[in-house]
Amino acid sequence: MKNPFTAPGKIILFGEHAVVYGKPAIAIPVSGMRASAWSEPGEGKLTINALDLNEKIGLENKASQFSVLAQALLAKTKQKEPNLTINLTSKLPQGSGMGSSAATSTAVCKALSNYLGVDLEHNQISELVFDAEKIVHGTPSGIDNTVVAYESPVYFVKGEDPLTFDSGRNFYLVIGDTGIEASTKETVGNVRKLWEKEPNLMNGYFDEIANVTEGGKMAIEEGNKEAVGELMNKNHELLNKIGVGHPLLEKLVDLTLDAGALGAKLTGGGGGGNMVALANNAEEQAEICEKITEAGYRAYQTTFGED
Ligand code: MEV
Repeated sequence: MKNPFTAPGKIILFGEHAVVYGKPAIAIPVSGMRASAWSEPGEGKLTINALDLNEKIGLENKASQFSVLAQALLAKTKQKEPNLTINLTSKLPQGSGMGSSAATSTAVCKALSNYLGVDLEHNQISELVFDAEKIVHGTPSGIDNTVVAYESPVYFVKGEDPLTFDSGRNFYLVIGDTGIEASTKETVGNVRKLWEKEPNLMNGYFDEIANVTEGGKMAIEEGNKEAVGELMNKNHELLNKIGVGHPLLEKLVDLTLDAGALGAKLTGGGGGGNMVALANNAEEQAEICEKITEAGYRAYQTTFGED
């Protein structure tokens, strides 16, 4: 692999789903797990070679996020289709709530723009990836492409510039993977159906989630890990109420809380995918991670903030 262009995964700490309805959310990049893209001379046209899927995607494939992205980038830079193969691989499990589609699109966007000789700002990459994400997610809020393109923790409200913020301390997280692939497009669609049926009830839950997110931001800034943990638990309860839970997410949340986590919640679209737990310190982070692996599930450790 020659000088790959890479992009991180992400997890949402507070506010997923409600963010689609204009409420704030907080997301952090997972820099240790990345998608990578690198280019080589093509076979007569532009091809995205998705190595993990064993799939070659050309510009004619209008249903692919990568061809939508490449078309938009070529139009923006007024360039012709290059004779180029972009190889793509990712450490991020698909359908896991860790931003695999945003990360792969971002890596491809960086590799292609570099080949075309254009220097894109974070916000330009984020916008291009957002348009491509619509193919995969239907009505995304834009939080995934934002946190992945900026690669920094963000406080995000749909349609507004993302805000970065300082953390009062280091936060030690463990991500647990149920192994169940879940489509964000589907869970977002299910939430929308419930919202259309019971708008008052659902708006009430979204307001409660917004309060949790605001409290979460304050607690992160203050470095109050106990409060962050409690708010994660509260957020998880509310996510169950809006119907995006799953028995295996419950199992992993309970397991991590029993192992001493300060709080735990599903993260991302839900319906399967990943959960995230907050550990008291680095040592307990490793212990919680081990408990998840012992139970037969994949787990990753990640941190954010400053000591
Ligand atoms: C997916 O990572 C987060 C959701 O809130 C969807 C979105 O914001 O587009 C579930």
